[in-house]
Amino acid sequence: MLLRGAISSHLLSSSTLRFKTTTSSYPQNVVVSAQSPQQSSTTTTKFSISDQDLDSRGFSLRSTVNDLNLDHLNSVFMAVGFPKRDPAKIRVALENTDALLWVEYRKTQRPVAFARATGDGVFNAIIWDVVVDPSFQGIGLGKAVMERLVEELLGKGICNIALYSEPRVLGFYRPLGFVSDPDGIRGMVYSRKQKKKK
Ligand SMILES: CC(C)(COP(=O)(O)OP(=O)(O)OC[C@H]1O[C@@H](n2cnc3c(N)ncnc32)[C@H](O)[C@@H]1OP(=O)(O)O)[C@@H](O)C(=O)NCCC(=O)NCCS
Repeated sequence: MLLRGAISSHLLSSSTLRFKTTTSSYPQNVVVSAQSPQQSSTTTTKFSISDQDLDSRGFSLRSTVNDLNLDHLNSVFMAVGFPKRDPAKIRVALENTDALLWVEYRKTQRPVAFARATGDGVFNAIIWDVVVDPSFQGIGLGKAVMERLVEELLGKGICNIALYSEPRVLGFYRPLGFVSDPDGIRGMVYSRKQKKKK
């Protein structure tokens, strides 16, 4: 389901968006989990791209749904191969989301990166819908939203953070602190068998 699109030419010139640092949803996917009990809300995190750098390149970080156009978000979901979903249901899902982060490209006023987490607010969270518009992939936006979302969860004291990863995206999540089958624990997902059509 991962379709990595070409970076549009106007963004190639902003490839310096990527800064190297020393810091280190669905069946068929692999469940991975991040467990960082040592970290706390007092931890100072260096993000791979600072808020200021994002801003100077025309990107605004947003953490509410107020000005998020759900049709535009749905377009990004579909552009990466997610199935089209009813915007009304997306709204309900977002209302029941504990933390979300998205990046607006100010020039078009459209969302170009998104991630959200649901959970119990104290112990556990699951991250969903991590997407970057294909035209904006490969310039660090996925990492930027994931770093900040994880940091927000850790800041709330939530140390057990899980997600479903397609096999081809495992390499994106690992450097962010996620491991498959931590301590041998295997994820299981309820899978209802499709009835054969007569
Ligand atoms: C996966 C996705 C969110 C990554 O976002 P992105 O903005 O393109 O990734 P970034 O530019 O932030 O990349 C950050 C790092 O991850 C690496 N990376 C990105 N995608 C990767 C992949 N599929 N496999 C391995 N590494 C990957 C990059 O090379 C980069 O490494 P670096 O920091 O060492 O330079 C994005 O490609 C996407 O939306 N894919 C389609 C939807 C999807 O599959 N979502 C995940 C559902 S499980």
